[in-house]
Amino acid sequence: MHNVILDTDPGIDDAQAIAFALSHPDINLLGLTTVFGNASVDITTGNALVVLEHYSRADIPVARGAAEPLSQARMPSPDFVHGADGMGDLNLPPPRSVARDESAAEFIIRNVNQRPGEVSLVAIGPLTNIAQAVMLDPSLPSKVKELVVMGGALDVPGNVTPLAEANFVNDPHAADVVCAYDWPLAVIGLDVTLQVPLTDEHFALLRDSAGAMGQFIWDSSRYYIDFYSTTKEYGGKRQCAMHDASALAYLVERSAFELVSGPARVVNDGVAVGALVLDRFDRTSPELFDHWQGRPSIAVAKQVDSERVLNCFMNTILNSKTHHGGGNRG
Ligand code: BDR
Ligand code: CA
Repeated sequence: MHNVILDTDPGIDDAQAIAFALSHPDINLLGLTTVFGNASVDITTGNALVVLEHYSRADIPVARGAAEPLSQARMPSPDFVHGADGMGDLNLPPPRSVARDESAAEFIIRNVNQRPGEVSLVAIGPLTNIAQAVMLDPSLPSKVKELVVMGGALDVPGNVTPLAEANFVNDPHAADVVCAYDWPLAVIGLDVTLQVPLTDEHFALLRDSAGAMGQFIWDSSRYYIDFYSTTKEYGGKRQCAMHDASALAYLVERSAFELVSGPARVVNDGVAVGALVLDRFDRTSPELFDHWQGRPSIAVAKQVDSERVLNCFMNTILNSKTHHGGGNRG
């Protein structure tokens, strides 16, 4: 069983990942921690609460996290991808439930220390909360079961700049801090998530056969897939990348992923801001590789068996016990 804290910025694909986390029989969702990213942290926290209510799981705790990146100014929210409300402009009613009286970093530190070796952190937004947590408690990397991050673009173009992926460029300092600690860390970035396309056929099947959860995934995906179908990656096709749920699928379908490893840096400013730079050849010229010296090796996914991951996602939501509840809010 994977006891998971999901650090998230809901976010349309984040809501799909939350559905997956609630539905997979080998995942026990301990809580959601929220961060700015796809919208302000006020909006992403409200969305986390509302999404749990829609999935009839308002019992899952939500802890609000960072409103701003560690060092740089917050970038404008990508409302052209996720809508001004971060959820495809669905005009959702405000949540009835409330976030806990504890910050995201405190929630993470408390839970990991209560269950050393048992908690998996899965981060699918900017890494600000994770960086804050590890700076407050540097023992976290040795106490988590693992840290899985959705972010970065290694050998493929970024989705925000030619080099940078959204979660990393939203807080490159935090991403670089996270890569400085010796976690059991796997980075699931665009190299693999762009290989995992969810199509309108997938979403229609969920709408028709996965109850209120499937209906919500269909409704919220309209805006996202409209955007994606205009991009050069998917130009014209009614499909979008399964970014965030792929990080969770890594927990339960590990052998579907091929990874490379090495010490990593995330560029903090300039033309390459947000770029993930991995030294996968373990070089020994300190004068040239000073920036990577003393950094732990991290794993970055390069290839994926996309059919396995897609089947895992679809079957998990279709077989979810959650949607038998009929989607009663709260
Ligand atoms: C990542 O950025 C966000 O827009 C998505 O929710 C995902 O976490 C993809 O680059
Ligand atoms: Ca996200």
